[in-house]
Amino acid sequence: MSERDVLVLGATGSTGRRVAGMLRDAGVSVRHASRRGSFRFDWTVRDTWEPATAGADAMYLMAPHELPVDPEFVRRAVEQGVRRIVLLSSRGIEVMGDERLLAAERTVRDSGVEWTIVRPDWFDQNFDEGFFQPAVMSGELALPLGDARMAFVDADDIAAVAATALTEDGHAGRSYEVTGPRALSFEEALAVITRESGRPVRYRGGDADYRAAQSSFGIPRDQTEAELAAFTALREAGDGEPTDTVREVTGRPPVPFETYAARAAAHGAWRE
Ligand SMILES: NC(=O)c1ccc[n+]([C@@H]2O[C@H](COP(=O)([O-])OP(=O)(O)OC[C@H]3O[C@@H](n4cnc5c(N)ncnc54)[C@H](OP(=O)(O)O)[C@@H]3O)[C@@H](O)[C@H]2O)c1
Repeated sequence: MSERDVLVLGATGSTGRRVAGMLRDAGVSVRHASRRGSFRFDWTVRDTWEPATAGADAMYLMAPHELPVDPEFVRRAVEQGVRRIVLLSSRGIEVMGDERLLAAERTVRDSGVEWTIVRPDWFDQNFDEGFFQPAVMSGELALPLGDARMAFVDADDIAAVAATALTEDGHAGRSYEVTGPRALSFEEALAVITRESGRPVRYRGGDADYRAAQSSFGIPRDQTEAELAAFTALREAGDGEPTDTVREVTGRPPVPFETYAARAAAHGAWRE
């Protein structure tokens, strides 16, 4: 790619922060974009779109959980000269019926520029930076996935795949399923977290446990039932198969979940 900038959306988030850091360390000129980033970008404020994309050559495209990738933003970015897009999507979106990310994938495929889609399995960092952190701290996680195993993946590996696709040739038109080296059930993953954090964390994997937990958080019943339908489909799809994508794209093996947990604990992730 040329000497122009790489725009990284979600640059304060779990993956974007790491993508931006890796690019910077490699000497690439990076725009750290988000509402709190050094480059102000807000999906809900269209006036912030053009300053972010003008003069950028490549873009790490991610939308936070609750927001779609607006096709108009992508159209304008391409019009302004963005020639390569790496999209953060997710594994299992067909099974779970995730229309938000399915639409985002269609948008980049139809963008007319080089695209790569990164489809990670569940992030390891959910346990210390994301959704599951409060549950780990409270000692109980309810999620209706039973014994199904997930190929949890470290956000450093996701970012390394994305950074490679942003800066090296040979990844255009590829959709990468990015996983850790082995699939674990939530019970197994929490046993590792318990060992490394010194905090006993119990897993409750049934539908009734999930309904009860959601209700105690004041989550509307409709939302809980929709989530249950998606999780049931995922559970019924069976164990997640690890892939060799991280090694193939980056040349390094993926980080084992045990290593992630040990590192997070060493950084004080689960201390009061
Ligand atoms: N967690 C998982 O296991 C998993 C697995 C597969 C795929 N995914 C996908 O990964 C995505 C989340 O990625 P992530 O974990 O890297 O992000 P994250 O840690 O959840 O952080 C969200 C990022 O989005 C930015 N943001 C929030 N609202 C914004 C707005 N209105 N305009 C612009 N930026 C905004 C935040 O920064 P500011 O607050 O500074 O704006 C932050 O940088 C989701 O689409 C999810 O579906 C997650």
